[in-house]
Amino acid sequence: MNNDWLKKGFVDETIPEDLDLVEEIKTLKKEKNALLMAHYYQKNEIQDIADFVGDSLALAWEASKTNADIILLSGVLFMGETAKILSPDKKVLVPDLNAGCSLADSCPADAFGEFIRQHPGHLVVTYVNTTADVKALSDIVVTSTNAVKIINSIPKDRKIIFGPDKNLGNYLQSISGREMVIWDGACHVHERFSVEKIVDLKKQNSDALIIAHPECKKPVLTISDFIGSTASLLKFTQESNANKFIVATEWGILHQMQKASPDKTFIAAPPSDSTCGCNDCEFMRLNSLQKIYLTLKYEFPEVEVQESVRRKAIKPIERMFELSEGLIKK
Ligand code: 13P
Repeated sequence: MNNDWLKKGFVDETIPEDLDLVEEIKTLKKEKNALLMAHYYQKNEIQDIADFVGDSLALAWEASKTNADIILLSGVLFMGETAKILSPDKKVLVPDLNAGCSLADSCPADAFGEFIRQHPGHLVVTYVNTTADVKALSDIVVTSTNAVKIINSIPKDRKIIFGPDKNLGNYLQSISGREMVIWDGACHVHERFSVEKIVDLKKQNSDALIIAHPECKKPVLTISDFIGSTASLLKFTQESNANKFIVATEWGILHQMQKASPDKTFIAAPPSDSTCGCNDCEFMRLNSLQKIYLTLKYEFPEVEVQESVRRKAIKPIERMFELSEGLIKK
């Protein structure tokens, strides 16, 4: 092995075919007192071996209170950064530093800083899908689980900037009746759902409910029976009397839905530009059991957040926790 993996952002080493990756990962986790956390959009086999599977809010909360020495966050980079901001004394690892997020990329900190300067006197509320630098410019961070509650808690006379997701921002405006100045960003995965294909699926499955993540475009949200974060969608499918669901978010979540309700039917809502029925986030899917094994073995790649940025970025996240009463398991 040469040192090219340092540049690649993940350890690139041939693994013997007969190695039992699941057992190796379990052993390394134990030896190193490492906590493996996975977002609901991870591959099924990663979710199955993770110590904790959750949405962005739950992952951040768990990262803030773990006793582990190492946090290995299988998700996308901003999730690893959030864990590092909250737990600076832990070693935070991600399986592949290239696992970015189109929303975070759509909001560079210098341009967002200028946007804030153009709207003086506004409270800066940002979705957690941002870089640490953007969090450092924010007053309150939200996730899709707590965004409605937090926006509703802000005094009516406070002007609000919301970024970076315009679809979530527009949804929050419609639910709360608040006018907000919204950054023009979007998640490429949620933007590409096809309303026509979802309507066709509904015609073929008239007993199915359409459920969607609020990052979807308005036409998809308009035809949906329920809108919520990944954790809320999962809970809804468990509690609903319906037996069939058309699910408009990254299709990794279907794994937990099917596990929680084995007798119910889950249909992944399709994107417009594909013949397959699935809509997956190629960044989330950069992670694999192989990379998780090598990441634990070499303790690389590690997430770093500059201390001056971290000290600013933690404040809006802690504010979010304070405003999330009832939504996190304390
Ligand atoms: P939640 O984890 O809050 O549901 O959001 C997932 C996400 O990052 C969508 O892009």
